[in-house]
Amino acid sequence: MVSTSLWMETEILPEAGALKGDVRCDVAVVGSGIAGLSTAYELMKRGRSVVVIDRKGIASGMTARTSAHLAPLCDDLMSEFKKLRGADAAKLFYESQAAAVDRIEDIQAGENIACDFLRTNGYLFQDNGMPADIFDEELEAVREVGAPVHRLVGVPLKGCENRHVLQYPRQGKFHPLKYLAGLAAVCESGGVRFFANSPVEEVAEQDGAVTLRTSQGQVTASHAVIATNASIADRFQLHTKVAPYRTYVVAFDIERGELPDALYWDTEDPYHYVRLQTGPDDHDFVLVGGEDHKSGEANDADKRFARLESWARDLIPALGRITHRWSGQVLDTIDYAGFIGREPGSERIYLAMGDSGQGLTHGVMGAMLNTALILGEDHPWKPVYAPDRKPLAAARNFLRENMTILQNLAEYVAPGEIASLEELEPGEGAILRRGLEKIAAYKDKAGELHLHSASCTHIGCHLHWNSFESCWDCPCHGSIFAPNGQPINAPAVSALRPVKV
Ligand SMILES: Cc1cc2nc3c(=O)[nH]c(=O)nc-3n(C[C@H](O)[C@H](O)[C@H](O)COP(=O)(O)OP(=O)(O)OC[C@H]3O[C@@H](n4cnc5c(N)ncnc54)[C@H](O)[C@@H]3O)c2cc1C
Ligand code: FES
Repeated sequence: MVSTSLWMETEILPEAGALKGDVRCDVAVVGSGIAGLSTAYELMKRGRSVVVIDRKGIASGMTARTSAHLAPLCDDLMSEFKKLRGADAAKLFYESQAAAVDRIEDIQAGENIACDFLRTNGYLFQDNGMPADIFDEELEAVREVGAPVHRLVGVPLKGCENRHVLQYPRQGKFHPLKYLAGLAAVCESGGVRFFANSPVEEVAEQDGAVTLRTSQGQVTASHAVIATNASIADRFQLHTKVAPYRTYVVAFDIERGELPDALYWDTEDPYHYVRLQTGPDDHDFVLVGGEDHKSGEANDADKRFARLESWARDLIPALGRITHRWSGQVLDTIDYAGFIGREPGSERIYLAMGDSGQGLTHGVMGAMLNTALILGEDHPWKPVYAPDRKPLAAARNFLRENMTILQNLAEYVAPGEIASLEELEPGEGAILRRGLEKIAAYKDKAGELHLHSASCTHIGCHLHWNSFESCWDCPCHGSIFAPNGQPINAPAVSALRPVKV
């Protein structure tokens, strides 16, 4: 993906080399986003020898593209969570997500990580025209889980002075990559070994150990944690219970003091999210995000950024110029909680997968939960996130999300988007039909063609071109491929099959 977020100027362990040869450790962590690095930290603190291995640079996955609200209440609404999972699970969900914010606060303070962490208020405000009764229902559900909340009228956004509002005290925000840079440095000095640019091609469990195989070496460990966002070792078809959504962020310059520092969300579907980030001198950045759609099902980023800009300028007239525009992907689960814990059917492989837009808090609480389970301890959060839970009440969400797969597979019989390769402009990609085969065709800026099968190497869904990020998106379970066919987002591990025309 080619866009750059506000955070990406922070490099993390740029000197980490690729894995060559065989290494051994107590726990191998695949993936170095917030989930992987938090897991490495917790295990290192409990005296385990840990290896972290990543396909790309350290922390260069979706954590580098987040908007970094640290918000422990379910972003699909606590009232919805309670309806689906019940009051006890809702309480445990809130407690675990709030514990993640506390943990980040403690770690950055205890380890002296300068990452702009701040406790601040969050405001859920009424979308224009949305009936007010959902606020009553949500207020009751939030109170029931024990979270602090106040019912107000109005937020300091233009035209929103009379909107219904829920105020959530003690939310948080931080600079995610400054935090992970600090965490990685602490891990490294505590003995954690890092390997970058080392795609794991196979995860195998036998003879009381787990082996991670790469093209140039392997890691053998007593346990492994698969923290690749979407799991690369999913034998339980968890991918049918998650759905990838692409989401967009615009950062604006603003003079400090023009917008009160807080986290803001509205009740639209998909919702808008807004927060401030400290900038240079007396300026700040305002991050405005939203315009989500199922991955691969739209290729109109410019229109989405324009709608975000217009929405934001109406509400915050003091916004200055746009400084950054980027997109990323979240992995919604059908019952609002991630899948964290021991992989079903395995003894030694643990998962942290599915974030429902709250992947930062999921990553941190998941690290605490997986660490306890690996060390043989029981944990009260275990049933809420158990990968083998049966979310029967979420059957409607399951069917809705899996319709994508049926619709997607039907695309194999549809015509191509272009009739010949001559139609492709430099820098663009499109689908070409050749007989029964669909070809993902990309012409680079120098005019060279890159032709691959349009069939995702995960389980064969039909890929779609993403012009803004110059990549191939899979609508089914979140795999993303670079124009050269290499996977850049899990669950896919193999490159697209090259084809000749
Ligand atoms: C625009 C946007 C806004 C968001 N806003 C928020 C928010 O406000 N609050 C919040 O809590 N969450 C938010 N999220 C979600 C959150 O940022 C992510 O869910 C979270 O960062 C994911 O962390 P992770 O560690 O699971 O995955 P990643 O950061 O993606 O890390 C996974 C790592 O695994 C590696 N990997 C994959 N396959 C392999 C392989 N085969 N071998 C080796 N390594 C591999 C990848 O290279 C990657 O580095 C947002 C996301 C986006 C995109
Ligand atoms: S991600 Fe599963 S088929 Fe593409």
